[in-house]
Amino acid sequence: MIVRTIAGLALVFLLLQLVRPKLTNPPATADFEAPADVKEILRKACYACHSNETRLSWFDEIVPAYQLVASDVKRGRMVLNFSELGAQPKARRNAVLFEAVSQIQMGAMPLSRYTRLHPEAVVTPGELAALRDYILPVPPARPTAQLDIEAADAQYRQWIAGASTSHPVQAAPNGIAFLPGYKNWRAISSTDRTDTNTLKMILANDVAIRAIAEHKINPWPNGTVFAKVSWMRQPDENGGIRTGKFEQVAFMIKNSEKYASTAGWGWAQWMGAELKPFGIDANFARECVACHLPLRKNDYVFTAPIAAARGPA
Ligand code: HEC
Ligand code: HEC
Repeated sequence: MIVRTIAGLALVFLLLQLVRPKLTNPPATADFEAPADVKEILRKACYACHSNETRLSWFDEIVPAYQLVASDVKRGRMVLNFSELGAQPKARRNAVLFEAVSQIQMGAMPLSRYTRLHPEAVVTPGELAALRDYILPVPPARPTAQLDIEAADAQYRQWIAGASTSHPVQAAPNGIAFLPGYKNWRAISSTDRTDTNTLKMILANDVAIRAIAEHKINPWPNGTVFAKVSWMRQPDENGGIRTGKFEQVAFMIKNSEKYASTAGWGWAQWMGAELKPFGIDANFARECVACHLPLRKNDYVFTAPIAAARGPA
C-alpha cells in the first residue's frame, strides 16, 4: 500500500513536470550599457528576472520551483527589463536605475525567496556603494561664486514674498492653476541629488499629512497634494550644502476620477524664479506619468514619508 502511494506520488510529481509555463529568452535587443563592474553586479543579482538572459539552475527547473521562478521572471521583465533599457531615453534610464538602487537599499530586491536558493545574487554593501557611485556620483564641492549666491538670495526673498505680488502665475498647459500655498505645507522628505546638482524638498498638504498619520497612503486619498521644490545645491566654504538658486516646483494632485487619464494624479510644474509653466501642451503630463510608472504599486509616489512627518503616534 505504502509502496503504491509512493509510486503514485512519484508519478504525479513526474507528470507535474510536464505542466510548465513556457519561459523563453527573447533576443536582448537593447541591452543596458554601463561600466563592466556595474554591469557585473546587476547581471549576477538582477538579470535572472529582469533581462532576456535568464539562466536557470537545475533546481529551478523542477516543478513547482519552476512555476514560481517562471512567474517571477515574467512579472520581473514586465516592470524592468535591462535587455530593453538601452533603447530608453536617458532621463527614463536614470529614473529606472535610481529606483533599482532604492529597491536594493530597502532590501526589497533581489527577492529574498530567490537569494535563499541563490546566495551569490545578494548585493553586498560594497557592491551597493559601487552602484550608488555610478548612479549618483559625488562631484567635488566647490564654493559657489558670490554672484550666484546673491542671485539665489534675491530669488529666495521673492519666493518668500509670494509670486502673486509681482505678477499672476500662468496656469499649466493642462489647466492646473498654481498653488502658492505649498510654502506652508509640511516637509516629508528631502533629497540631495549630486547627479543633477540639486537639493529637493518634498512638501505635503494637510490631506496627505492626515493620510500618513492614519496609514492610508496606498492609494493616497483624493485631495492629497505633493509639491517637489528644487534648488541648485550651493556648497559653502565649510563644505556644507545650502539651497541655492530656485529651480522649479512640481505638483501631484490626487483625484482618481478627474485625473483618471493621468494615473489619478494632476501633474503640473513651474520653472525658475519667473514661475513659467512647464510643457508645450497638456501632453507634457505623459512624461511625468511615464517616469513615475515604476512606482505604480506605491500609487506613483516615489517618496516614502520620513518618520517625523507621521507626527506623534
Ligand atoms: C527572482 C526574481 C527577481 C530578482 C532576482 C530580482 N527581481 Fe526585481 N522584481 C521581481 C518581480 C517579480 C517584481 C515585480 C514585483 C511585484 O509585482 O510585486 C520586481 C520588481 C522590481 C522593481 C520594480 C518595483 C515596483 O514595485 O514596481 C525594481 C526596480 C526591481 N525589481 C529591481 C531589481 C533589482 C535592482 C534587482 C537586482 C539587485 C532585482 N530586482 C532582482 C523579481 C526579481
Ligand atoms: C526622469 C524621471 C521623472 C520625471 C520625468 C518626473 N518625475 Fe517626478 N519624481 C521623480 C523622482 C525620482 C522623484 C523622487 C524625488 C527625487 O528624488 O527627485 C519624483 C518626485 C516627484 C514628486 C514628489 C512626490 C513623489 O512622487 O515622491 C512630485 C510632486 C513630482 N515628482 C512631480 C512631477 C511632475 C509634475 C512631473 C512632470 C512635469 C514629474 N514629476 C516628472 C522622477 C521624475
